[in-house]
Amino acid sequence: MTPVHSPKASSTSSASRPGHKAPHVIAITSGKGGVGKTNLTANLAWQLRQLRRRVMILDADFGLANIDILYGLNPKHNVSHVLSGEKTLSDIILKGPAGVQVLPASSGVSAISDITEGQKVMLLQQMEELEASFDYLLIDTGAGIGGNVIYFSLAAQTILVVVTPEPTSMADAYALIKVLSKEYHQSEFTLMVNDVASEAEALDVFKHLTTVTDRFLNVSVNYLGFLPRDVRMREAVRAQRPFMEMFPKSAASAGIKKVAHQLIAMENDPMKSDLGLLWRNLLVAPAA
Ligand SMILES: Nc1ncnc2c1ncn2[C@@H]1O[C@H](COP(=O)(O)OP(=O)(O)OP(=O)(O)O)[C@@H](O)[C@H]1O
Ligand SMILES: [Mg+2]
Repeated sequence: MTPVHSPKASSTSSASRPGHKAPHVIAITSGKGGVGKTNLTANLAWQLRQLRRRVMILDADFGLANIDILYGLNPKHNVSHVLSGEKTLSDIILKGPAGVQVLPASSGVSAISDITEGQKVMLLQQMEELEASFDYLLIDTGAGIGGNVIYFSLAAQTILVVVTPEPTSMADAYALIKVLSKEYHQSEFTLMVNDVASEAEALDVFKHLTTVTDRFLNVSVNYLGFLPRDVRMREAVRAQRPFMEMFPKSAASAGIKKVAHQLIAMENDPMKSDLGLLWRNLLVAPAA
């Protein structure tokens, strides 16, 4: 098994502020839709809170906001109000289960690439102001290779690609990695395999995908973990409560716990960069 990698921002470590512990920004993404990104985000955030980490979720699935539904929240305002100048990011933060902070998505913005340069600068400044209030920023992106997914993947130290054993999911994960590598010069990816019967099946998916990426792309794809299929996941969605809270002893909860511990083990990596700088990268990133 390939060990989990250091955050991507290590390559920009010279830009770190001395003595400043930057949050770990993780973009949770996928090629194909419906592979479990939002459920993973909601539960991983909850678990990181149990481990006393300060966690913020940015629901970046504009148009199909979901985190608020999974957490049973009713946001009055969202990122569209920040973009229009009516609210600031800190005004729209909601407290979810276990104190997870949530920046809800709007349904009026189809892709973040639609926002203007001025709005990007404003978001950047406000994100920098919030930076001191969390240790982890989990960005739940939409699926696919749209502007929104690319934009937030470039902002993150870790691009966490969620994949299932379905051939379409694997093919689409490969397509996403290919675009981020060839067009946006990303070289490190982290893989999480969802909806499997066993870890052996997850490792099979990992092996399959990396056989192709090793052959055709100049990237490293690292295995972070797996989540077994559990029909009760839908029950938790219906109850609008974190699965981990409802079924803490399940194998899927054990999978999330393992991933949270892996992330925490990466915290002492001295190479983490400044979140502000990552967001600043976005301003110069080519439009998707
Ligand atoms: N390990 C699992 N076992 C069983 N069901 C699961 C599992 N993971 C996710 N699901 C179910 O799959 C469905 C899709 O999950 P989710 O909404 O998290 O996917 P997504 O990748 O965020 O989708 P989208 O691309 O539309 O944002 C949900 O009904 C969820 O309950
Ligand atoms: Mg989702």
